[in-house]
Amino acid sequence: MTIIVTGGAGFIGSNFVFHMLNKYPDYRIVCLDCLTYAGNLSTLEPVMDNPNFRFVKESITDREAVYKLFEEEKPDMVVNFAAESHVDRSIENPEVFLDTNIKGTAVLMDACRKYGIKRYHQVSTDEVYGDLPLDRPDLFFTEETPIHTSSPYSSSKAAADLLVLAYHRTYGLPVSISRCSNNYGPYHFPEKLIPLMIANALNDKPLPVYGEGLNVRDWLYVEDHCKAIDLIIHNGRVGEVYNVGGHNEKTNIEIVKIICKELGKPESLITHVADRKGHDMRYAIDPTKIHNELGWLPETKFEDGIKKTIKWYLENKEWWETIISGEYQNYYEKMYAHREEI
Ligand code: NAD
Ligand code: TYD
Repeated sequence: MTIIVTGGAGFIGSNFVFHMLNKYPDYRIVCLDCLTYAGNLSTLEPVMDNPNFRFVKESITDREAVYKLFEEEKPDMVVNFAAESHVDRSIENPEVFLDTNIKGTAVLMDACRKYGIKRYHQVSTDEVYGDLPLDRPDLFFTEETPIHTSSPYSSSKAAADLLVLAYHRTYGLPVSISRCSNNYGPYHFPEKLIPLMIANALNDKPLPVYGEGLNVRDWLYVEDHCKAIDLIIHNGRVGEVYNVGGHNEKTNIEIVKIICKELGKPESLITHVADRKGHDMRYAIDPTKIHNELGWLPETKFEDGIKKTIKWYLENKEWWETIISGEYQNYYEKMYAHREEI
């Protein structure tokens, strides 16, 4: 079995590469990643010498390079993690989101059509459903919830999902889609809420909470997400969408306070800054379908997952310190300079 994993040098993709190489010693895993600011080859160092692993530095938008790779590897499956993934960046500059997230998906699926494939899996997001109101805790996203996006990021992901379903209906491509909630865990790029707050707190820097911090996210430990995708690509039904997440809802301010407590840092580091434009209020997944069909449930409680995550960031300072001292520093200064304290 040969699987092309795109975006495998990023947060979730790298965790998935490790999961698959560990669990299936007879599988060949080929990582296709063009190493944007979010891709980090050092993350993949532990598997670089594994004879069952190959890294290829190309973009999923480069048709020629993608076709060449398919010709060489003749993959049985493709799992597409490659994407521009940060909402705030999409608000500043949507274009690259359209290129990678939509066009890149089409190129990969065209290659699947041309060379044949057992399964094309699209890693999507619950953000395609838009948001839920805070005063309706009884509401959850199901696979039937209408697509209703808020940001250029989520719109580009929704467009890709529709394209994936269209390739299934029109060309009979054997596809599946997973829509998961916010992941956290090792190798999470420090521009996202949890790793950003851990890194800032450890450096005694202000902890910039957007607005009141009452927005709710449904946090999923990354290993649980990898297990869900593993189940879907092997046992999930073709042409289906599976929501992944569930019952780990927390407000942003709760998260930041937990991080302060775990690190023994004062809550006085918290600063409330200008809110994100179009900020989604609440995400919450109903995982009934994947539970009933595939037996999946999130295994890691938030209290345990956040401890493991913090421990990882403490033990792997070099990984994130290298990132925040490099080009990312310019991004941070630019993005947070215009977020005035409120
Ligand atoms: P990430 O930003 O950490 O990593 C993205 C990876 O894709 C990087 O290694 C980057 O170099 C690579 N990449 C970007 N553009 C590429 C291109 N044109 N060609 C090849 N590689 C390219 O992202 P992540 O958080 O690991 O997210 C992975 C996937 O999961 C994305 O599709 C995202 O939409 C989805 N998702 C993420 C979350 C989350 O909480 N992080 C939640 C739901 C869905
Ligand atoms: P993020 O990690 O960017 O994920 P997403 O926008 O895809 O949910 O943000 C999670 C939540 O945290 C979101 O409500 C925005 C908020 N947030 C802050 O309050 N401060 C920050 O510095 C960041 C990066 C996010």
